Amino acid sequence: MSSFSKTLLQWYRLNKRNMPWVGETDPYKVWLSEVILQQTRVEQGTAYYLDFIKHYPTVQHLAKASANEVMKRWEGLGYYSRARNMHATANVITQQLKGVFPDTPEGLQSLKGIGKYTANAILAYAYHKPYAVTDGNVLRILSRYQGITIPVNTPAGKKMVEALADRLLDKQLPHTYNQALMDFGSLVCTPRNPDCGNCPFRRSCYAFNHEMTAILPQKEKKRAAKTRYFNFFVMKSGNKVLIMPRHAADIWKALWQFPLIETAEEATLQDIQRSNVYKDWKLGKVQWEEAGTFKQQLTHRRLICRFFTGEIKTTPEIDGMQELVNRKEMERFAFPGVIRDFMKGKLYF
Ligand code: ADE
Repeated sequence: MSSFSKTLLQWYRLNKRNMPWVGETDPYKVWLSEVILQQTRVEQGTAYYLDFIKHYPTVQHLAKASANEVMKRWEGLGYYSRARNMHATANVITQQLKGVFPDTPEGLQSLKGIGKYTANAILAYAYHKPYAVTDGNVLRILSRYQGITIPVNTPAGKKMVEALADRLLDKQLPHTYNQALMDFGSLVCTPRNPDCGNCPFRRSCYAFNHEMTAILPQKEKKRAAKTRYFNFFVMKSGNKVLIMPRHAADIWKALWQFPLIETAEEATLQDIQRSNVYKDWKLGKVQWEEAGTFKQQLTHRRLICRFFTGEIKTTPEIDGMQELVNRKEMERFAFPGVIRDFMKGKLYF
């Protein structure tokens, strides 16, 4: 056992967080928790994890569920391709692998949505195999500890931290060690204002001893996010409203929405009504009311979503499977976060 691991595990014995997936050895549950926890905070992820294992206690249950139901259950977590890949992989494991998760990096990484990170997590937590789990927490801790100044979001930086992670890994207790590192990153070696006063590594930490904790880990600047302008038309007909599925080749795949006109820049309602898409709907005269603007920041995109509500007299001609639903029926469909934000607590129809 390295002295790094010894110190870490001593700290962990006194400070471990109690989370429902800790100590779990069922690869299905480990996988589920790790997929949920990518891009999701523990507080939010826990409720989703418990809900998923309650409704889908095994990979077979998840495979059998409809894609719509899984998306609905995922609603609010964002990055929906995670849920789609998970559902597809559950079917592959059930139908082609007799319900058994692979126990090798190659076997796991051949599955949709399972990359090196998730594969290593399953190998370490479920099978107790000696693989280091290197997420943002670990990149941060190790780059500070060792004083790695190469940006950690470049291939070279990542490779360097991963090599260090492999060296420091406790090969006898990979499950405890990896979870301990996660907890340490969340509780002590935090992104801002790390608690160096209470850190058991302070004497050997390069960043602490060189006053570099604030500038490590280094990250290369990403390109500026592009803005997209979404104009949603909430078409009411009595107590019903028209919804439609989104096209496959864009964000929010397999989610539902109100009829949408995207513009290259911020546009007036009059501009939008002059567009061919709007004219093709053949709505006749509708009194539109501007009902709110919601913004959402995604990794590479900023979305500005405006909502217009109006009572329609004729059903528009829109490609695809549209549905007229009342408020209760609407609950069966999964919507992007901004649309749910718009609907929250407001009675538009
Ligand atoms: N984030 C990713 N995996 C995690 C885990 N196992 N525990 C806490 N946070 C995590």
